[in-house]
Amino acid sequence: MSSQRPTLEDIVALCKRRGFVFQSSEIYGGLNGVYDFGPLGTLIKNNLRNAWSRSIMSPDHIMFFLEGSLLGPEAIWKASGHVDNFHDPMIDCTNCKKRFRADDPDIDITGPCPNCGKKAWTEVRQFNMMFKTQLGAIADSSAVAYLRPETAQAIFINFKNVMSSNRVKIPFGIAQIGKSFRNEITPKQFLFRMREFEQMEMEWFCTPESSNEYFDYWCKKRLAFYKTIGINTDRIRLRAHEKDELSHYSSQTSDVEYEYPFGWKELEGIAHRGDYDLTQHSKHSGKDLSVFDEETQKSFMPNVIESSVGTDRLFLTTLFDAYHIDTLGGEERTVLKLHPSIAPIKAAFLPLVKKLSDNMRKIYADVARLGLHVEFDESGSIGKRYRRQDEIGTPLCFTYDFDSLEDNCVTVRDRDTLKQERINIENVEMYLINMLKHKP
Ligand code: GAP
Repeated sequence: MSSQRPTLEDIVALCKRRGFVFQSSEIYGGLNGVYDFGPLGTLIKNNLRNAWSRSIMSPDHIMFFLEGSLLGPEAIWKASGHVDNFHDPMIDCTNCKKRFRADDPDIDITGPCPNCGKKAWTEVRQFNMMFKTQLGAIADSSAVAYLRPETAQAIFINFKNVMSSNRVKIPFGIAQIGKSFRNEITPKQFLFRMREFEQMEMEWFCTPESSNEYFDYWCKKRLAFYKTIGINTDRIRLRAHEKDELSHYSSQTSDVEYEYPFGWKELEGIAHRGDYDLTQHSKHSGKDLSVFDEETQKSFMPNVIESSVGTDRLFLTTLFDAYHIDTLGGEERTVLKLHPSIAPIKAAFLPLVKKLSDNMRKIYADVARLGLHVEFDESGSIGKRYRRQDEIGTPLCFTYDFDSLEDNCVTVRDRDTLKQERINIENVEMYLINMLKHKP
């Protein structure tokens, strides 16, 4: 059995072939940097969201969830620093009109344009990446709003609301899963750099004295998450930012990086945001966001440790990591070795021939009633049906054959080892539940 790593093109082709992801507005020519998720892609994304939510919860600490709005007034983004600082340097070729990020490591702006070969650059200009809009019919500055470029600010501006309505003291966390929007100059590498994407962010509020300890705690905890969803730990590392890489709000950041076919890149960021955001919002809104410490009888501004990962980037990473091409007895198969908790379909129920469909459908229906995503498939040769399930990452396939009529057993086939065993039909549910529970 041999295995090779996929290219970006392999992943894009698989996503299209199996309906994981579609180019948004495809029938109108597509919208660059924007994607729609098909039925199986949606299931994988939901599984990733659930896994992430579980990973930040613990009986040892308090975690709240929030769902903030996507639109925010200009005042939020002035306070957060995004109006002044959320820029990328851009450069245009005056000959072919193509636009580039001037700091793109793949572009040499001292040489000719990589698109047309002429050297006809404009000056480098700063381009703010937020999507600006106008609320209602009034055209003055009070109606200016922005689509949020990160979910985090909704957490900061609701910090006091959450704290008082839940009668809680720091330390505690507020987490959010939701869309963010960035007008990337050059969206690229499929789901890696998009204009509309989803983030899973967690802001941990603590005292300044405990903040460094919590920064280390969350770095360890976030790194451990990737193992629980089956990502190969050899391809994951934590990298501390150099001083000149830090965002305007951060005093310390470490990225969880993954080794993509296009190099080691950021998958998740863990940042020590200090009291930057709460102080800024206190100043700009005039509302005091400090908290009172009953022990010292003094008010202080909490510090924040943030973890932030893109759901779509994690989706892409999971596919890169799980995609294998095996050669089995001279035949090639594409298999997605997804962790069972992430696999969109947990098991497939396959009658050997259509004549046996009714018997198999009954077993399938009993399992589907448990609320598990399972599939029944009776069309095509059994080999083809196995290949399809391998390609979408289904961990187990159950097959009902003519012997099943006699021995009341089905054959269960493991996606990764290809081992087949015969089990009693009564044990199918338990077999599946055990596999979902015990896969490391
Ligand atoms: N609140 C902090 C923040 O937004 P960031 O490093 O800009 O920090 C955090 O983004 C994560 O969001 C990244 O690690 C990545 O997973 C995801 N992300 C950022 N920009 C993205 C884009 N254009 N397309 C897809 N995912 C993106």
